[in-house]
Amino acid sequence: MRAPSNTATQEWDPRSSCVSPEGRILEMAARGMSLSHVLDDLCRLVEEQAPGVLASVLAELAHVTRLTTLGQPAPSTAHEVNQPSGSSDIVGDGEAMRRVLEAVATVAPTDSTVLIGGETGTGKELIARAIHDRSRRRSRPFVTLNCAAIPSGLLESELFGHERGAFTGAVARRVGRFELANGGTLFLDEIGDIPLELQPKLLRVLQEQAFERLGSTQTVRVGVRLIAATNLDLAAMVADKRFRNDLYYRLNVFPIAIPPLRDRREDIPALVNHFVRLYAGRLNRRVEPVSPSALKTLTEYDWPGNVRELANVVERASITARDGDLRFDLPVGGDRNESAGRGAISVAASPEILSEAEMRQQERRNMAAALRRTHGKIYGDDGAARLLGVKPTTLLSRLARLGLKPTRQVPLAADLAAT
Ligand SMILES: Nc1ncnc2c1ncn2[C@@H]1O[C@H](COP(=O)(O)OP(=O)(O)OP(=O)(O)O)[C@@H](O)[C@H]1O
Ligand SMILES: [Mg+2]
Repeated sequence: MRAPSNTATQEWDPRSSCVSPEGRILEMAARGMSLSHVLDDLCRLVEEQAPGVLASVLAELAHVTRLTTLGQPAPSTAHEVNQPSGSSDIVGDGEAMRRVLEAVATVAPTDSTVLIGGETGTGKELIARAIHDRSRRRSRPFVTLNCAAIPSGLLESELFGHERGAFTGAVARRVGRFELANGGTLFLDEIGDIPLELQPKLLRVLQEQAFERLGSTQTVRVGVRLIAATNLDLAAMVADKRFRNDLYYRLNVFPIAIPPLRDRREDIPALVNHFVRLYAGRLNRRVEPVSPSALKTLTEYDWPGNVRELANVVERASITARDGDLRFDLPVGGDRNESAGRGAISVAASPEILSEAEMRQQERRNMAAALRRTHGKIYGDDGAARLLGVKPTTLLSRLARLGLKPTRQVPLAADLAAT
Protein backbone atom coordinates (compact mmCIF):
# COMPACT_ATOMS: atom_id res chain seq x y z
CA MET A 1 0.00 0.00 0.00
CA ARG A 2 1.34 3.44 -0.90
CA ALA A 3 2.04 6.06 1.73
CA PRO A 4 -0.67 8.72 1.69
CA SER A 5 0.02 11.87 -0.18
CA ASN A 6 -0.77 14.99 1.82
CA THR A 7 -3.23 16.12 -0.77
CA ALA A 8 -5.13 12.83 -0.63
CA THR A 9 -5.46 13.22 3.16
CA GLN A 10 -6.36 16.89 3.00
CA GLU A 11 -8.94 16.63 0.23
CA TRP A 12 -10.97 13.86 1.82
CA ASP A 13 -12.16 13.59 5.41
CA PRO A 14 -13.22 10.00 6.12
CA ARG A 15 -15.50 11.21 8.93
CA SER A 16 -17.58 13.12 6.43
CA SER A 17 -18.08 9.95 4.40
CA CYS A 18 -21.53 8.41 4.84
CA VAL A 19 -20.52 4.89 3.82
CA SER A 20 -20.41 1.89 6.19
CA PRO A 21 -17.23 1.25 8.24
CA GLU A 22 -16.12 -1.43 5.77
CA GLY A 23 -16.79 0.89 2.86
CA ARG A 24 -14.93 3.67 4.62
CA ILE A 25 -11.84 1.47 5.03
CA LEU A 26 -11.98 0.29 1.42
CA GLU A 27 -12.38 3.86 0.22
CA MET A 28 -9.33 4.97 2.20
CA ALA A 29 -7.31 2.10 0.77
CA ALA A 30 -8.49 2.93 -2.74
CA ARG A 31 -7.31 6.52 -2.23
CA GLY A 32 -3.82 5.18 -1.58
CA MET A 33 -3.80 5.94 2.14
CA SER A 34 -1.31 4.00 4.16
CA LEU A 35 -2.24 0.98 6.24
CA SER A 36 -1.20 2.99 9.27
CA HIS A 37 -3.74 5.75 8.40
CA VAL A 38 -6.47 3.22 7.75
CA LEU A 39 -5.82 1.55 11.10
CA ASP A 40 -5.82 4.90 12.90
CA ASP A 41 -9.22 5.66 11.44
CA LEU A 42 -10.47 2.20 12.33
CA CYS A 43 -9.32 2.76 15.93
CA ARG A 44 -11.24 6.02 16.16
CA LEU A 45 -14.32 4.35 14.74
CA VAL A 46 -14.22 1.43 17.16
CA GLU A 47 -13.36 3.71 20.09
CA GLU A 48 -16.48 5.77 19.30
CA GLN A 49 -18.84 2.88 18.69
CA ALA A 50 -17.48 -0.03 20.72
CA PRO A 51 -14.93 1.07 23.30
CA GLY A 52 -13.10 -1.66 25.16
CA VAL A 53 -10.90 -4.57 24.32
CA LEU A 54 -11.30 -4.43 20.55
CA ALA A 55 -10.34 -0.75 20.47
CA SER A 56 -7.26 -1.50 22.53
CA VAL A 57 -6.22 -4.38 20.28
CA LEU A 58 -6.62 -2.18 17.23
CA ALA A 59 -4.65 0.67 18.85
CA GLU A 60 -1.82 -1.76 19.50
CA LEU A 61 -1.99 -3.09 15.94
CA ALA A 62 -1.90 0.45 14.54
CA HIS A 63 1.05 1.37 16.70
CA VAL A 64 3.05 -1.73 15.78
CA THR A 65 2.20 -1.20 12.13
CA ARG A 66 3.55 2.33 12.27
CA LEU A 67 6.73 1.07 13.84
CA THR A 68 7.41 -1.91 11.67
CA THR A 69 5.93 -1.55 8.22
CA LEU A 70 5.54 0.73 5.26
CA GLY A 71 8.93 2.33 5.93
CA GLN A 72 7.28 5.25 7.72
CA PRO A 73 9.10 7.04 10.52
CA ALA A 74 8.13 5.73 13.93
CA PRO A 75 6.49 8.24 16.30
CA SER A 76 9.61 8.21 18.44
CA THR A 77 13.10 7.30 17.32
CA ALA A 78 13.85 5.98 20.77
CA HIS A 79 12.15 2.64 20.37
CA GLU A 80 11.98 -0.13 17.86
CA VAL A 81 10.24 -3.43 17.56
CA ASN A 82 12.26 -6.33 16.21
CA GLN A 83 14.16 -4.06 13.86
CA PRO A 84 17.08 -5.97 12.38
CA SER A 85 20.43 -4.80 13.71
CA GLY A 86 21.98 -4.79 10.24
CA SER A 87 24.55 -7.35 11.17
CA SER A 88 23.86 -9.78 13.93
CA ASP A 89 27.33 -11.39 13.74
CA ILE A 90 29.32 -10.91 16.89
CA VAL A 91 32.94 -10.71 15.82
CA GLY A 92 35.91 -11.36 18.08
CA ASP A 93 37.19 -14.54 19.63
CA GLY A 94 39.71 -13.16 22.08
CA GLU A 95 39.56 -14.29 25.71
CA ALA A 96 37.43 -11.31 26.84
CA MET A 97 34.82 -11.70 24.09
CA ARG A 98 34.72 -15.46 24.61
CA ARG A 99 33.82 -14.86 28.26
CA VAL A 100 31.03 -12.46 27.23
CA LEU A 101 29.64 -15.02 24.76
CA GLU A 102 29.77 -17.76 27.39
CA ALA A 103 27.72 -15.53 29.69
CA VAL A 104 25.25 -14.92 26.84
CA ALA A 105 24.89 -18.66 26.25
CA THR A 106 24.40 -19.31 29.97
CA VAL A 107 21.74 -16.68 30.63
CA ALA A 108 19.86 -16.72 27.30
CA PRO A 109 17.62 -19.75 27.96
CA THR A 110 16.50 -18.39 31.34
CA ASP A 111 14.04 -15.55 31.96
CA SER A 112 16.46 -13.72 34.24
CA THR A 113 17.00 -10.00 34.05
CA VAL A 114 20.37 -9.07 32.55
CA LEU A 115 22.31 -5.87 33.16
CA ILE A 116 24.85 -5.11 30.43
CA GLY A 117 27.59 -2.63 31.22
CA GLY A 118 30.22 -1.14 28.95
CA GLU A 119 31.46 2.08 27.40
CA THR A 120 29.64 3.63 24.49
CA GLY A 121 29.86 1.62 21.27
CA THR A 122 31.15 -1.59 22.85
CA GLY A 123 28.20 -3.64 21.56
CA LYS A 124 25.71 -3.63 24.45
CA GLU A 125 22.67 -3.65 22.19
CA LEU A 126 24.21 -6.32 19.97
CA ILE A 127 24.68 -8.54 23.03
CA ALA A 128 21.11 -7.84 24.22
CA ARG A 129 19.78 -8.97 20.83
CA ALA A 130 21.99 -12.03 20.94
CA ILE A 131 20.47 -13.00 24.30
CA HIS A 132 16.94 -12.58 22.90
CA ASP A 133 17.81 -14.49 19.70
CA ARG A 134 19.13 -17.41 21.72
CA SER A 135 16.16 -17.49 24.11
CA ARG A 136 12.79 -19.25 23.98
CA ARG A 137 11.30 -15.83 23.26
CA ARG A 138 13.16 -15.45 19.95
CA SER A 139 9.97 -15.54 17.85
CA ARG A 140 8.30 -12.92 20.07
CA PRO A 141 9.00 -9.17 20.00
CA PHE A 142 12.34 -7.63 20.92
CA VAL A 143 11.38 -4.10 21.89
CA THR A 144 13.97 -1.44 22.63
CA LEU A 145 13.69 1.86 24.41
CA ASN A 146 16.49 4.33 24.99
CA CYS A 147 15.62 5.96 28.33
CA ALA A 148 17.99 8.88 27.65
CA ALA A 149 16.30 9.76 24.36
CA ILE A 150 12.82 10.39 25.82
CA PRO A 151 11.99 13.53 27.82
CA SER A 152 11.49 12.35 31.40
CA GLY A 153 7.85 13.58 31.40
CA LEU A 154 6.99 11.22 28.53
CA LEU A 155 8.96 8.21 29.68
CA GLU A 156 6.22 6.81 31.93
CA SER A 157 3.73 6.82 29.08
CA GLU A 158 6.29 5.26 26.72
CA LEU A 159 6.90 2.44 29.17
CA PHE A 160 3.41 1.79 30.47
CA GLY A 161 1.06 3.39 27.93
CA HIS A 162 -1.84 5.73 28.61
CA GLU A 163 -5.57 6.02 28.34
CA ARG A 164 -7.24 8.56 26.14
CA GLY A 165 -7.35 11.89 27.98
CA ALA A 166 -4.79 10.81 30.61
CA PHE A 167 -2.92 14.06 29.96
CA THR A 168 -3.03 16.96 27.51
CA GLY A 169 -2.31 15.56 24.07
CA ALA A 170 -3.34 11.98 24.92
CA VAL A 171 -5.90 11.87 22.13
CA ALA A 172 -6.15 8.09 21.96
CA ARG A 173 -5.33 5.09 24.08
CA ARG A 174 -1.75 4.00 23.54
CA VAL A 175 -0.01 0.83 24.66
CA GLY A 176 3.44 1.15 26.18
CA ARG A 177 6.68 -0.74 25.62
CA PHE A 178 5.92 -3.30 28.31
CA GLU A 179 2.69 -4.33 26.61
CA LEU A 180 4.33 -4.37 23.18
CA ALA A 181 7.06 -6.63 24.50
CA ASN A 182 4.60 -9.04 26.10
CA GLY A 183 5.89 -12.59 25.65
CA GLY A 184 9.20 -11.24 24.41
CA THR A 185 12.08 -9.08 25.59
CA LEU A 186 12.24 -5.41 26.51
CA PHE A 187 15.68 -3.82 26.13
CA LEU A 188 16.00 -0.65 28.21
CA ASP A 189 19.09 1.20 27.06
CA GLU A 190 20.73 3.89 29.22
CA ILE A 191 18.81 2.67 32.27
CA GLY A 192 20.85 5.05 34.45
CA ASP A 193 18.81 7.91 32.94
CA ILE A 194 15.49 6.68 34.28
CA PRO A 195 14.18 9.36 36.69
CA LEU A 196 14.11 8.48 40.39
CA GLU A 197 10.34 8.99 40.63
CA LEU A 198 9.70 6.38 37.93
CA GLN A 199 11.97 3.76 39.47
CA PRO A 200 9.41 2.28 41.95
CA LYS A 201 6.97 1.59 39.11
CA LEU A 202 9.71 -0.14 37.12
CA LEU A 203 10.65 -2.18 40.17
CA ARG A 204 7.03 -3.27 40.55
CA VAL A 205 6.79 -4.54 36.96
CA LEU A 206 10.00 -6.46 37.43
CA GLN A 207 8.68 -8.08 40.59
CA GLU A 208 5.02 -8.56 39.75
CA GLN A 209 4.85 -8.22 35.95
CA ALA A 210 1.92 -5.88 36.56
CA PHE A 211 1.27 -2.16 36.10
CA GLU A 212 -1.46 0.35 35.23
CA ARG A 213 -1.53 2.54 32.16
CA LEU A 214 -1.48 6.26 32.87
CA GLY A 215 -5.01 7.43 33.58
CA SER A 216 -6.27 3.92 34.35
CA THR A 217 -6.88 1.94 37.51
CA GLN A 218 -7.05 -1.34 35.65
CA THR A 219 -4.02 -3.56 36.21
CA VAL A 220 -2.33 -4.92 33.09
CA ARG A 221 -0.45 -8.21 33.45
CA VAL A 222 2.45 -9.10 31.15
CA GLY A 223 5.26 -11.63 30.75
CA VAL A 224 8.33 -9.64 29.75
CA ARG A 225 12.00 -10.43 30.06
CA LEU A 226 14.02 -7.32 30.80
CA ILE A 227 17.53 -6.60 29.58
CA ALA A 228 18.98 -3.27 30.69
CA ALA A 229 22.17 -1.54 29.62
CA THR A 230 24.19 1.35 30.88
CA ASN A 231 27.55 3.00 30.44
CA LEU A 232 27.25 4.57 33.90
CA ASP A 233 28.42 3.20 37.22
CA LEU A 234 25.06 2.31 38.75
CA ALA A 235 26.64 1.24 42.06
CA ALA A 236 28.19 4.71 42.40
CA MET A 237 24.82 6.27 41.52
CA VAL A 238 23.21 4.19 44.28
CA ALA A 239 25.84 5.49 46.72
CA ASP A 240 25.02 9.07 45.59
CA LYS A 241 21.29 8.35 45.98
CA ARG A 242 20.73 8.99 42.28
CA PHE A 243 19.53 5.42 41.69
CA ARG A 244 17.36 3.30 44.00
CA ASN A 245 19.28 0.44 45.54
CA ASP A 246 16.27 -1.96 45.47
CA LEU A 247 15.94 -1.43 41.70
CA TYR A 248 19.69 -1.78 41.24
CA TYR A 249 19.73 -5.17 42.99
CA ARG A 250 16.69 -6.30 41.02
CA LEU A 251 18.43 -5.36 37.74
CA ASN A 252 21.84 -6.66 38.68
CA VAL A 253 20.74 -10.32 38.73
CA PHE A 254 23.08 -11.33 35.91
CA PRO A 255 25.58 -8.61 35.02
CA ILE A 256 27.60 -8.80 31.81
CA ALA A 257 30.46 -6.32 31.39
CA ILE A 258 31.70 -5.72 27.85
CA PRO A 259 35.32 -4.55 27.98
CA PRO A 260 36.39 -1.53 25.92
CA LEU A 261 38.08 -2.34 22.62
CA ARG A 262 41.49 -1.10 23.84
CA ASP A 263 41.39 -3.91 26.44
CA ARG A 264 40.74 -6.58 23.80
CA ARG A 265 42.96 -5.45 20.96
CA GLU A 266 43.25 -9.04 19.75
CA ASP A 267 39.72 -8.64 18.29
CA ILE A 268 40.59 -5.55 16.23
CA PRO A 269 41.97 -7.24 13.06
CA ALA A 270 38.92 -9.49 12.81
CA LEU A 271 36.60 -6.51 13.36
CA VAL A 272 38.44 -4.42 10.73
CA ASN A 273 38.17 -7.23 8.17
CA HIS A 274 34.52 -7.82 9.10
CA PHE A 275 33.58 -4.16 8.52
CA VAL A 276 35.73 -3.94 5.35
CA ARG A 277 33.72 -6.85 3.90
CA LEU A 278 30.43 -5.44 5.21
CA TYR A 279 30.87 -1.98 3.67
CA ALA A 280 32.42 -3.28 0.45
CA GLY A 281 29.24 -5.35 0.07
CA ARG A 282 26.91 -2.49 0.99
CA LEU A 283 28.66 0.00 -1.29
CA ASN A 284 29.12 -2.67 -3.94
CA ARG A 285 32.86 -1.97 -4.20
CA ARG A 286 35.91 -4.12 -4.66
CA VAL A 287 38.57 -3.30 -2.06
CA GLU A 288 42.15 -4.48 -1.55
CA PRO A 289 42.94 -6.56 1.55
CA VAL A 290 44.17 -4.54 4.52
CA SER A 291 47.96 -4.77 4.84
CA PRO A 292 49.57 -6.09 8.06
CA SER A 293 51.15 -2.68 8.75
CA ALA A 294 47.77 -0.87 8.51
CA LEU A 295 46.22 -3.51 10.77
CA LYS A 296 49.05 -2.93 13.24
CA THR A 297 48.37 0.83 13.34
CA LEU A 298 44.64 0.25 13.72
CA THR A 299 45.31 -2.25 16.50
CA GLU A 300 47.51 0.23 18.40
CA TYR A 301 44.90 3.01 18.30
CA ASP A 302 42.88 3.44 21.51
CA TRP A 303 39.35 3.58 20.00
CA PRO A 304 37.60 5.80 22.56
CA GLY A 305 34.34 5.27 20.63
CA ASN A 306 34.98 1.50 20.61
CA VAL A 307 33.50 -0.76 17.91
CA ARG A 308 31.13 1.94 16.64
CA GLU A 309 34.10 4.27 16.00
CA LEU A 310 35.99 1.49 14.26
CA ALA A 311 32.98 0.73 12.06
CA ASN A 312 32.69 4.44 11.18
CA VAL A 313 36.39 4.73 10.30
CA VAL A 314 36.12 1.70 8.00
CA GLU A 315 32.90 2.99 6.46
CA ARG A 316 34.51 6.37 5.71
CA ALA A 317 37.57 4.61 4.21
CA SER A 318 35.28 2.46 2.07
CA ILE A 319 33.40 5.50 0.76
CA THR A 320 36.57 7.44 -0.10
CA ALA A 321 38.54 4.43 -1.44
CA ARG A 322 40.27 4.95 -4.77
CA ASP A 323 40.95 1.97 -7.02
CA GLY A 324 40.11 -0.31 -4.12
CA ASP A 325 42.75 1.22 -1.83
CA LEU A 326 41.41 1.97 1.61
CA ARG A 327 42.90 4.83 3.64
CA PHE A 328 41.91 5.01 7.30
CA ASP A 329 41.88 8.37 9.04
CA LEU A 330 42.50 8.23 12.77
CA PRO A 331 42.48 11.12 15.21
CA VAL A 332 45.89 11.64 16.82
CA GLY A 333 47.48 13.35 19.81
CA GLY A 334 46.38 14.17 23.32
CA ASP A 335 44.40 12.00 25.63
CA ARG A 336 41.56 9.75 24.53
CA ASN A 337 38.82 12.24 25.15
CA GLU A 338 40.46 15.09 23.33
CA SER A 339 41.85 13.19 20.41
CA ALA A 340 39.04 13.91 17.97
CA GLY A 341 39.94 17.55 17.57
CA ARG A 342 43.68 17.11 17.13
CA GLY A 343 43.94 16.33 13.43
CA ALA A 344 44.30 12.93 11.89
CA ILE A 345 46.85 10.43 10.71
CA SER A 346 46.18 8.56 7.57
CA VAL A 347 46.92 4.87 7.27
CA ALA A 348 47.07 3.31 3.84
CA ALA A 349 45.42 -0.08 3.92
CA SER A 350 47.60 -1.57 1.22
CA PRO A 351 51.20 -0.62 0.36
CA GLU A 352 51.25 2.69 -1.49
CA ILE A 353 52.46 2.55 -5.09
CA LEU A 354 55.09 5.21 -5.78
CA SER A 355 56.40 6.58 -9.05
CA GLU A 356 60.14 6.53 -9.82
CA ALA A 357 60.42 10.25 -8.88
CA GLU A 358 58.54 9.72 -5.62
CA MET A 359 60.79 6.76 -4.79
CA ARG A 360 63.90 8.92 -5.28
CA GLN A 361 62.44 11.66 -3.15
CA GLN A 362 61.62 9.18 -0.42
CA GLU A 363 65.18 7.83 -0.57
CA ARG A 364 66.54 11.37 -0.14
CA ARG A 365 64.26 12.03 2.82
CA ASN A 366 65.24 8.77 4.43
CA MET A 367 68.95 9.52 4.08
CA ALA A 368 68.38 13.03 5.42
CA ALA A 369 66.59 11.68 8.48
CA ALA A 370 69.45 9.23 9.16
CA LEU A 371 72.11 11.95 8.78
CA ARG A 372 70.16 14.29 11.05
CA ARG A 373 69.96 11.60 13.70
CA THR A 374 73.73 10.94 13.55
CA HIS A 375 74.62 14.65 13.29
CA GLY A 376 76.08 14.05 9.86
CA LYS A 377 78.32 11.13 10.87
CA ILE A 378 78.54 8.39 8.22
CA TYR A 379 81.07 5.87 9.56
CA GLY A 380 81.08 3.81 12.73
CA ASP A 381 78.48 2.17 14.98
CA ASP A 382 76.71 5.48 15.52
CA GLY A 383 76.95 6.53 11.87
CA ALA A 384 74.19 6.96 9.30
CA ALA A 385 75.37 3.99 7.19
CA ARG A 386 74.83 1.58 10.07
CA LEU A 387 71.42 3.12 10.76
CA LEU A 388 70.41 2.66 7.13
CA GLY A 389 71.80 -0.87 7.01
CA VAL A 390 74.21 -0.14 4.14
CA LYS A 391 77.99 0.03 3.83
CA PRO A 392 79.43 3.53 4.33
CA THR A 393 80.81 3.38 0.79
CA THR A 394 77.32 2.61 -0.56
CA LEU A 395 75.87 5.57 1.30
CA LEU A 396 78.65 7.80 0.00
CA SER A 397 78.07 6.72 -3.57
CA ARG A 398 74.30 7.29 -3.23
CA LEU A 399 74.93 10.75 -1.89
CA ALA A 400 77.32 11.38 -4.79
CA ARG A 401 74.68 10.17 -7.23
CA LEU A 402 72.41 12.84 -5.83
CA GLY A 403 75.19 15.36 -6.46
CA LEU A 404 75.84 16.02 -2.78
CA LYS A 405 79.32 16.08 -1.26
CA PRO A 406 79.84 14.01 1.91
CA THR A 407 82.16 16.64 3.42
CA ARG A 408 79.20 18.96 4.01
CA GLN A 409 77.74 16.37 6.29
CA VAL A 410 75.49 18.28 8.67
CA PRO A 411 74.23 20.88 6.21
CA LEU A 412 73.85 18.00 3.81
CA ALA A 413 71.00 16.63 5.93
CA ALA A 414 69.23 19.96 5.66
CA ASP A 415 69.84 20.06 1.89
CA LEU A 416 68.40 16.62 1.49
CA ALA A 417 65.37 17.37 3.60
CA ALA A 418 64.68 20.54 1.66
CA THR A 419 64.46 18.72 -1.68
N1 LIG B 1 31.65 -7.70 18.56
C1 LIG B 1 31.06 -7.05 17.55
N2 LIG B 1 31.02 -7.60 16.33
C2 LIG B 1 30.44 -6.95 15.29
N3 LIG B 1 29.86 -5.76 15.37
C3 LIG B 1 29.87 -5.15 16.57
C4 LIG B 1 30.46 -5.76 17.72
N4 LIG B 1 30.30 -4.93 18.77
C5 LIG B 1 29.65 -3.86 18.31
N5 LIG B 1 29.37 -3.98 17.00
C6 LIG B 1 28.69 -3.00 16.14
O1 LIG B 1 29.08 -1.71 16.61
C7 LIG B 1 27.98 -0.82 16.63
C8 LIG B 1 27.74 -0.32 18.05
O2 LIG B 1 27.22 -1.41 18.84
P1 LIG B 1 26.01 -1.21 19.87
O3 LIG B 1 24.99 -0.25 19.35
O4 LIG B 1 25.53 -2.56 20.26
O5 LIG B 1 26.84 -0.51 21.05
P2 LIG B 1 26.32 0.07 22.43
O6 LIG B 1 27.25 -0.40 23.47
O7 LIG B 1 24.86 -0.24 22.59
O8 LIG B 1 26.52 1.64 22.18
P3 LIG B 1 25.86 2.87 23.02
O9 LIG B 1 26.41 2.82 24.39
O10 LIG B 1 26.36 4.07 22.27
O11 LIG B 1 24.37 2.69 22.95
C9 LIG B 1 26.81 -1.58 16.04
O12 LIG B 1 26.75 -1.31 14.66
C10 LIG B 1 27.17 -3.03 16.28
O13 LIG B 1 26.56 -3.87 15.34
MG1 LIG C 1 23.21 1.11 22.80
